Amino acid sequence: MAMIEFRLNGEAVTADVPDDMPVLWLLRDVLHLTGTKFGCGIARCGACTVHVDGRAMRSCVLPAVGIAGKDITTIEGLASDGVLHPVQQAWIEEQVPQCGYCQSGMIMTAAALLAENPAPTDDDIDRRVTNICRCGTYPRIRKAIHRAASS
Ligand code: FES
Ligand code: FES
Repeated sequence: MAMIEFRLNGEAVTADVPDDMPVLWLLRDVLHLTGTKFGCGIARCGACTVHVDGRAMRSCVLPAVGIAGKDITTIEGLASDGVLHPVQQAWIEEQVPQCGYCQSGMIMTAAALLAENPAPTDDDIDRRVTNICRCGTYPRIRKAIHRAASS
């Protein structure tokens, strides 16, 4: 076990974590933030994507002990002061989700992409948004990212 301190959605958090616990389970099982989803557990699907110091990372393979001192943002913390992030707003306007399961990871990946590249091309999107959607919402995801980029 190790005691770690980090920032989560703007708040200071202290938690006792087993040495082998991934960030995904710290978020979901210990801190009860269930917006971040479990899909594959092997860094393939992206359902578990969160931001670590602003970068999109797959939390199912990220050791919780490694986030000490870091700034974590989950889907629950993406809106600020009650105002949706432009990606969230674009997702609503383009009616992106189908079953919704992959979507928090998609949104976190898209938000990190736009923070780095405010006007991505289709190729940029395809290269960076490698998350898997079993419902096949990819065309609407791409459209919504372009919409958020131009908002
Ligand atoms: S659950 Fe983490 S990448 Fe699939
Ligand atoms: S919306 Fe169903 S898995 Fe993506």
